[in-house]
Amino acid sequence: MWWARIIAVAAVALMALPAEAQESGDRLAGHDLAVRWCSSCHIVDPGQQRQGTDAVPTFAAIAAMKSTTSMSLTVFLSTPHTPMPDYSLSRDDIANVSAYILSLRKK
Ligand code: HEC
Repeated sequence: MWWARIIAVAAVALMALPAEAQESGDRLAGHDLAVRWCSSCHIVDPGQQRQGTDAVPTFAAIAAMKSTTSMSLTVFLSTPHTPMPDYSLSRDDIANVSAYILSLRKK
């Protein structure tokens, strides 16, 4: 049963995550927000059907950059950034979506 193995691996991965993500933000809420507000331009989820454009970094690519930290994301998302619309994200929104992006970082 190949799928049982995948579920087991996914479960282990999920258990490993919270300890790191918890310090700031709720990555599940961040994922919801990303799908709703960011996915028209960004590929926010490795499973997302293609819809973003090549000109825009995927969230996985953003997570993979050494310069990406929860601080850099907070700063970036606190200021309007053309061509990104000014969403006026709340501090919680920013913490959540930052936690989600960082959770995509490959260990
Ligand atoms: C209208 C299209 C659009 C939408 C919607 C959008 N973005 Fe972006 N985003 C871009 C583009 C284009 C860039 C690259 C701009 C650049 O590097 O100067 C970018 C860059 C970024 C970066 C910086 C990557 C880096 O180089 O450090 C982050 C982080 C980011 N977006 C997060 C988000 C989040 C979170 C949302 C949803 C709240 C969002 N974006 C919605 C178009 C968009």
